[in-house]
Order: sequence, then C-alpha cells, then structure tokens
Amino acid sequence: MKLWGGRFTKEINELVNHFNASLPFDCRFYAQDIRGSIAHVTMLAKSGILTNDERDQIISGLTGILSDINSGTLKFDDGSEDIHSFVEAHLIERIGEAGKKLHTGRSRNDQVALDMKLYTRDEIDETDGLLKTLLEELLTIMKANLDTFMPGFTHLQKAQPITLAHHFGAYFEMFRRDRSRLADIRRRMNTCPLGAGALAGTTYPLDREYTASLLEFDCATVNSMDSVSDRDYLIEYLDALSIIMMHLSRFCEEIITWNTNEYQFVEIDDSYSTGSSIMPQKKNPDIAELIRGKTGRVYGALVSLLTTMKGLPLAYNKDMQEDKEMAFDAFDTVKGCIGLFTGMIASMTFRKDRMEASAKNGFTNATDAADYLVNHGVAFRDAHGIVGQLVLLCIDKNCSLDELSLDAYRSISPVFDEDIYDAISMKTCVEKRLTKGAPSRTSMEAQIAFCEKYLLEN
Ligand code: ARG
Repeated sequence: MKLWGGRFTKEINELVNHFNASLPFDCRFYAQDIRGSIAHVTMLAKSGILTNDERDQIISGLTGILSDINSGTLKFDDGSEDIHSFVEAHLIERIGEAGKKLHTGRSRNDQVALDMKLYTRDEIDETDGLLKTLLEELLTIMKANLDTFMPGFTHLQKAQPITLAHHFGAYFEMFRRDRSRLADIRRRMNTCPLGAGALAGTTYPLDREYTASLLEFDCATVNSMDSVSDRDYLIEYLDALSIIMMHLSRFCEEIITWNTNEYQFVEIDDSYSTGSSIMPQKKNPDIAELIRGKTGRVYGALVSLLTTMKGLPLAYNKDMQEDKEMAFDAFDTVKGCIGLFTGMIASMTFRKDRMEASAKNGFTNATDAADYLVNHGVAFRDAHGIVGQLVLLCIDKNCSLDELSLDAYRSISPVFDEDIYDAISMKTCVEKRLTKGAPSRTSMEAQIAFCEKYLLEN
C-alpha cells in the first residue's frame, strides 16, 4: 500500500518501486520510528488535535507493532516503500480509523530526519561505551608496564628509550579525544526536527518543544527548512568514526610490526590469530590487518555522504535517502573493530625482554651520552660529534654503547668517567625525563592518575 496513491492513475513500475524503496535498510530504525510516533501523538493529544482516546488506541497499536517486530512475528516482507509506510499501514490494519490520524501534522521528511537522528544518537552512546572499555584496557596495560623499556621511534628508526606505558598512554590520549568529539557532536545535534513538516512547518498548533522533551532533545530545531535537510550531524559523526579508525589503524600497524619475527615485541594470542592453508608455521595477525583495512570503507562512507550532500538545493531531496546504507555499515564496522581490538590487546603477550634489548641495541641512549658530556662542560654541538664517533666505533665493534670499555670512551673524549654507564642505562635515560608527559615513572604516575580521574568522571 502506498501512502500517496490518491493522485496516481497507474501502478508504479516494478523496477521503480524496487529502486525507490528503502525498507530493506531503514527497517533498522523501526524502534526509533515508533518511539517518534508515540511522542508525536502524545503531543497531538496534549495540543487538542487528537482525542485522548485516539491517542491511546494509536499508542497501543504502535506498542503492539513494536513488540511483534521485536519477537519476530511481524516481518518486513510486505513490500512497503519504507519503514514509515510499513508502520502506518500495519497500524491502520490493526486499529482502523484512529490509525489514519497518526500522520496529522507530520511529513516523512521530518519523520525520517527524526528517526535518523534518534538512531545516530543511540549509536554515538554505544560507540562511546566501547571506547571507554578500550580506554580501561589501555590503562590496565599502562599500569603494568611503567618499567617496560622499549625504543621510541621516529622515522621508524630507533630514537630514544621510552616505556610501554608511555607508548600506550599516547593512544589513550587519541581515544580520549575521540570520546570528546563524540560528546561535542551529540551536544550539537541534540535538537528535535519533528514538527518541521515537509519543509514549511504545519498549520496545526503543534507543541514542538513538548515533543522535543519527550524524545530527550534539548529543544526543537530553529528552522523548518534546515530541519528536514540537515545531515551535518551524520557527516560529523562519520568524520569522528573515520578518526577513530585512523587511530585504530595506526595502532594495528604497530602491533602487526611488533608481532613480526624480526621484532617479537608482542605475541598476538592464538585466539586472535589465523593460520595458513599451505605454510604450517604461520600465525597471521589477520584481525589487526582487517581493522587497518576496514578503515578505508569508513572513510568511504564519509566521502560518500559529503559528495551526496554537496549539490542539494533546499529542502528535502530523495538523494538524502542515500545517507543510510553506508552510514549503517560504518556504524557497525567501527563498533566491531573497537570491540575486537580491545579483546586483541587484552589477550596479547608483551615480550619485555625483547623490547628492552631492542632499545639497548639501537643507540637510543646516544642523546643521553651527549647530555652527559654537556653536564661536564662540553658544548652540545661538540658533544653530538663525539657521541657520533662513539656510535661509529660501536658499529665497527658490533656492540652497544653500554658495552664499550671506558678506555674506548676516553680514546674519543677524556671527559668520560666510570659514571657514564649509569648515565646511559635504560633506567636512567627514562627516569631522567621528568617533564609533564615524559616517560619517567614519576611523570607516568601523574599521567595515570589523570587518566584514572578522567575515567571516573566520564
Ligand atoms: N525513505 C526516505 C528517506 O530515507 C524517507 C523520506 C521520504 N520522503 C519523501 N518525501 N519521499 O529519506
């Protein structure tokens, strides 16, 4: 049954019907659609547009539809054009005349704008919860690894020693910002479009602020044209999801590298790995790779919607129906990735011995050797040159700076003394970095206290 058959004399072409229909994907927000309709009729009765009896009949019909969909007894297989038509048709079938009044003072344009907002708002909350669980896991790993020394990299070349706690702390900050982006979007989007009508409001005395409060919005939207044509919040959310994926993808890239035979910094648990059909020795980091790979499709959803929206004149255009499928795919993808990623790092083994050995063997303490000389009165540029020669010597002898004899040190600069070994130990190199945000235990304890407080309050 079509909602708009009156002015038509011919049946719709079957291909057109199929091409136009959105029920196969907008059935996803049936619960939001029904919730919106219940708020709408509650407001219509309060404003004297429907009687209380009509309201009650409609609400009980809608509640029945909701529970039948939930239980699986009512299926989306009747060929309805969209979820709005589906619910209205079933309501009329169930309760008769009163059902025909549901759509009073409403258009599918403000209805779909509402449904998509309600659905997205629920999604934001769910994604935020998953990110919080991820942050809790990161914090657990940070707390257990304040003394797990490892090389910090720049250009993927070993740079200076850090700790695993410090490295994971960097990702804590990224995902903390992601959560704050979600909160910003939620705050900005939380206005109710229902009552905007097709584009120009309605002639009924709707109490839009009341509807807004029933649906837990901060207020009703300001302009009815904007209300039905705004998908900014969805673009913002897809942008935030893209950034979350970018963070996960960078993290996955590191874990894939750390899990290689060459690094062996971590071992991904068997339960999060896969094997090869031909090579018996293989244990592949497929989950990390898939998360990295799926980043592309989430970016795709963002670019797709931006492109769909860029040429649209005001107000509603059917192009906007294209906001759904890729957005839903992105929502599902990101939630799945956050959950899997959290499980993967929670079950991963950290090879502390390998990390520390790698930090030692890569001259990550060379800056500290130069600082030693500076503290003994040598100018930094000269100190840099002296340590550079020491590194060359080490490469020649195939040893680390710690393994070089004092005589070898003195052969390049007489300033060196026995205390150089303590000055360039991994522990000293890290512990002397006391500035806010640096890897020393003292700085990291402050960072962890901050993270703990944040998780308690957010
Ligand atoms: N399925 C439509 C969408 O997703 C619902 C709104 C349809 N409005 C209309 N006037 N055809 O955007």
